[in-house]
Amino acid sequence: MNFDEINDRKGTYCTQWDYIEDRFGKSGLLPFSISDTDFKIPEPITKQLEKILEHQIFGYTRWNHDDFKGSIQGFFQRRFDCHIEKDWVVYSPSVIYSVSVLLRLLSQDNDTVLCFNPMYDAFFNVVEKNKRNLISCHLNNETFQIDFHDFENKIKDCQVLLLCSPHNPTGRVWTSEELQHIIKICQKYQVKIISDEIHMDVILTNRKHQPILKYLSQYNQLYLVSSSSKTMNTPGLGGSYAIIPNQEIKKQFLIQTKEKDFVNSANIMGMHACMVGYTQCDNYIDQLVDYIKGNMRYVETYLKENIPDFTFHIPESTYLAWIDVRKAPFSMDEIQKAFIEIGEVAIMDGKVYGDNGIGFLRMNCGCPRSKLEEGLKRMKKAMDALYQRKQR
Ligand SMILES: Cc1ncc(COP(=O)(O)O)c(C=O)c1O
Repeated sequence: MNFDEINDRKGTYCTQWDYIEDRFGKSGLLPFSISDTDFKIPEPITKQLEKILEHQIFGYTRWNHDDFKGSIQGFFQRRFDCHIEKDWVVYSPSVIYSVSVLLRLLSQDNDTVLCFNPMYDAFFNVVEKNKRNLISCHLNNETFQIDFHDFENKIKDCQVLLLCSPHNPTGRVWTSEELQHIIKICQKYQVKIISDEIHMDVILTNRKHQPILKYLSQYNQLYLVSSSSKTMNTPGLGGSYAIIPNQEIKKQFLIQTKEKDFVNSANIMGMHACMVGYTQCDNYIDQLVDYIKGNMRYVETYLKENIPDFTFHIPESTYLAWIDVRKAPFSMDEIQKAFIEIGEVAIMDGKVYGDNGIGFLRMNCGCPRSKLEEGLKRMKKAMDALYQRKQR
């Protein structure tokens, strides 16, 4: 796979490039924003989609068969050494849709849900718009570790923990010890755990990602939601899955999708992308991980040499660089203004991910190296202008 290839996405209605103005107030910026990649999908998926296109029939499509559920079962076994039953797998149009349904099935209005802060920005809405109270535990903002004392104090009064594993935006890959500690405390207070594992494939450290369901024998209130879409770059196709060992909750989930929301028929393209992605694309995933590691090393070196007030350590996972700008002698508003007006580059302000993200930037590095080089150059140009202005 040639991840260096530049694919022009402009004019395709894509959120990242064509609608950058919505978030940054100006069009034409070089975007490092929403988390999809600028990479082509794996070739085996392209071939499968071509076959479907050629057939020219896009009728109602079933997901409830061994091919779909078995591809997910096989992937978890092969990649994570995690056993799941096919019978636990359900299709869902999107990961956050699954979170939304599960939150309603596992808690009541006005119940409390805990998330680690900073958090994936959709977590705010999915909790609060479902009429649950959101409380958060701040991760240590240097090491991104959990303060377990604070966690236990807060989780006592919660009904659900909405975990992001690995963690967007910090990239933390929770250790087995951390996960077991979380589970033990949740079990003590009978708090259910929904684990969003959509970032599970891009692991940049030697530590392995541990799916939450590895610990099912320790606690049975565990729910996993994920998708192949982030890794394979297919979020525009639709489709994801939830793994629900609790058969009563699974039944309720299906009543919601089939009989209340009418979204149980699979997107044919999304379903095939997942099946092929999980059976024929390990090579793509491994190459993608290597490429992202290279991108992260590039960012680390560039910032150290050119913008030393920005602190950056290669994350343990994800293609998202979480950059600490608190040492820079400028406010985030000044930095953002300079990025947009001088550098013409769009990098997410960390405050989007919660108050514990203030002073950070989130830069999407799921792109060809040359785009990253250009983006960093633009950031430097903007910062140089700020430093020069300060000297005057
Ligand atoms: C942690 C996390 N969960 C879910 C999603 C989105 O998944 P979906 O579009 O399937 O809801 C993202 C996308 O950025 C994400 O980072």
